[in-house]
Amino acid sequence: MAMVLDKVVPFGRSMDEYIKIFNLTNADLNKRIIGIGDGPASFNAEMTRQGKSVVSVDPLYQFSGDEILQRFNEVVDNIINQVKATSNDWVWSYHKSPDDLRHNRVKVIQEFLSDYETGKKSNRYAVGELPKLAYDNQEFDLALCSHLLFLYSDHLDYNFHLDSIGEMLRIAKEVRIFPLITLMWKHSQHLDEIVKYYTSKGYKIDIEKVEYELQPGGNKMLKITRDII
Ligand SMILES: C[S@@+](CC[C@H](N)C(=O)[O-])C[C@H]1O[C@@H](n2cnc3c(N)ncnc32)[C@H](O)[C@@H]1O
Repeated sequence: MAMVLDKVVPFGRSMDEYIKIFNLTNADLNKRIIGIGDGPASFNAEMTRQGKSVVSVDPLYQFSGDEILQRFNEVVDNIINQVKATSNDWVWSYHKSPDDLRHNRVKVIQEFLSDYETGKKSNRYAVGELPKLAYDNQEFDLALCSHLLFLYSDHLDYNFHLDSIGEMLRIAKEVRIFPLITLMWKHSQHLDEIVKYYTSKGYKIDIEKVEYELQPGGNKMLKITRDII
């Protein structure tokens, strides 16, 4: 599971962003949650502070907090400058501007880092990667995957998506994935086949519109539920 840090953009989202991205209700927040590919999101840190149950899995967690922060500092200006150069193309409803986006991403990684060492010791931040996860069948109620599957459809093929979603459904009763567009802001080429596959297997599929949008058109979330009764 060797991961090269200089290929990674360690940008993470907050608990409030996760709530909006995944339409999480108060009842959802009290479930046993696993966040897959959580990276330097502060969802786990903020949820834990409120006494909620979250495990985050990511190959990034093989690195120290200092290494993750160093990589963040190396890339943040470049990325924000790219966003500024195309500023009119983005949706500034949640984040108000490229500078606000930068401010929020810095705040999130600081929150994450303040919890990272403690969380690692209690296995709340675990090294692991799709398509295979080291958890028992149905160990979680809800598996969340933000900004990995579908977004990286040009890098991760259909079988990777199928195997990964199958694995998430093995360990959790319900899976939610956001967004459903690619890095090029196109409808993911894998989405329709995935929906067809899980519908044919009897799973309940919902595509929900959400309040959060930054990439234009990136405001839909896929929900797959194991029990249809
Ligand atoms: C764009 S970041 C999203 C971080 C977080 N989910 C959020 O939305 O704030 C994508 C994350 O996916 C992780 N990742 C890459 N390949 C993965 C895999 N096969 N399984 C799990 N996570 C992976 C990366 O290390 C990175 O932290």
